[in-house]
Amino acid sequence: MSEEKQQVSRRQFLNYTLTGVGGFMAAGLLISPIRMAIDPVLKPSSVGDYANVGLAVEDITTEPTRVDWKIDQVDGWYESEVSKAAWVFKNEDDEIMALSPTCTHLGCVVSWEGSEKYPNEFFCPCHDGRYYKDGTNIEGTPPTRPLDRFEHKVENGMLYLGNAQERGGA
Ligand code: FES
Repeated sequence: MSEEKQQVSRRQFLNYTLTGVGGFMAAGLLISPIRMAIDPVLKPSSVGDYANVGLAVEDITTEPTRVDWKIDQVDGWYESEVSKAAWVFKNEDDEIMALSPTCTHLGCVVSWEGSEKYPNEFFCPCHDGRYYKDGTNIEGTPPTRPLDRFEHKVENGMLYLGNAQERGGA
């Protein structure tokens, strides 16, 4: 039995090496755009998600309290942290209300009892916009519709808020 030594020529060695390195680089170049193309499709949508706003339901009173929280927003390949806020309280039917602080006139921020002149109302300082406690706009002031209301749910005694929903005009 004879042992045949297979000699690899310098030319063959270079061919194998360059083919291997070239293939590796081509795969690297292809994987990145493919991954970028399908990545948003594979991720679960954040639309309709609820966020724990860090408020225990037992701590919610009839006095509107401002709650602030942050959510991760994914827009295509761009991820960002978005600040959210709501005025939370229980109404006379013991129902949880979570109202958007964004004025429906031109988007300024409304505050509960933001003006000493108008107690028990939400007040927008930009153009003296006013809303009743339930978020309904007061006729004769600039806003033409009520404050948006957040969807909510309760889990393990904690309040979770979803998207703010537009309500009918008053
Ligand atoms: S923005 Fe609020 S009243 Fe104009």
